Amino acid sequence: TWTMGNVIEEQVAEIRERVGTKRAICGLSGGVDSAVAAALVQKAVGTQLTCVYVDHGLMRKGETEQVEKDFVAATGVQLKVVDAEERFLTALAGVSDPEQKRKIIGREFIRVFEQAQAEIVAEAAGEGEDVAFLVQGTLYPDVVESGGGAGTANIKSHHNVGGLPDDIEFELVEPLRALFKDEVRMVGQELGLPEEIVQRQPFPGPGLGIRIVGEVTKDRLDLLREADAIAREELTAAGLDRDIWQCPVVLLADVRSVGVQGDGRTYGHPIVLRPVSSEDAMTADWTRMPYDVLARISTRITNEVDEVNRVVLDVTSKPPGTIEWE
Ligand code: XMP
Repeated sequence: TWTMGNVIEEQVAEIRERVGTKRAICGLSGGVDSAVAAALVQKAVGTQLTCVYVDHGLMRKGETEQVEKDFVAATGVQLKVVDAEERFLTALAGVSDPEQKRKIIGREFIRVFEQAQAEIVAEAAGEGEDVAFLVQGTLYPDVVESGGGAGTANIKSHHNVGGLPDDIEFELVEPLRALFKDEVRMVGQELGLPEEIVQRQPFPGPGLGIRIVGEVTKDRLDLLREADAIAREELTAAGLDRDIWQCPVVLLADVRSVGVQGDGRTYGHPIVLRPVSSEDAMTADWTRMPYDVLARISTRITNEVDEVNRVVLDVTSKPPGTIEWE
């Protein structure tokens, strides 16, 4: 019979056989797919795997720590964390256009990741070892969408590290290629990964950078992180995590409205709650969630987050609205 235990045993044996005595690299995004793929390869080849996590400073509260501490504790994986917050914020300074933000974040991400990769390759070479594999959390639906075919990744390095050739060629290891999302979660659970990672809802690669309408700054990110943490805490406490596909929390940084708080008039920013129900994110409907939960989130955000004096609910389906605001 086909169980997650079998899947793990089979994949571990296959990865061991393929990787042999060579080394592998895996990028961690904080999401479930890359985490489970990394955990499987770690189980197969241990410290022959090095994971790379780029902290772009656009993650939600506690998410980087989840990877750095909980994921490492659960798997024993060798992890290289690159703190690139300043670099991303500098690149994003003065930019409000959504597409431009996405392009900048994507571009910086690739540069930082490739540099880390090149460093790992160089370090290994210094020890007479060969980094030959790149681990990716490709799922079955991704395979179908892109027309199948395993391949190699040509990674162009823009950074000259220790006289490496410009092109580093890796073979891809994709241990989740036969699995659907729910099966990946089961494998992750079986491997003992933290619940917060295994059950994580979708979160965009560009992170909170595309949930601030307006320029992205450190202060605004900190503010949004607080509001988002409150919303997530209350949704979890209300037992709504399984009913809601995801709930983006958006800061309208370029909008101000008048309010009255404490001893006087305020002129603050609105926070938007965007709870959606969906099967596959292609279409979505706004979630009819309990008013009392909305009320608690609103009260807490306006009380606890400075500069926010209003919380609004997005009641738009997709289409016409997208799930994210940018
Ligand atoms: P939209 O906003 O297009 O989002 O309705 C659909 C789903 O995709 C997620 N999303 C992204 N995920 N990188 C990602 O990995 C991205 O750049 C990105 N943009 C949107 C979004 O959260 C939703 O689940």
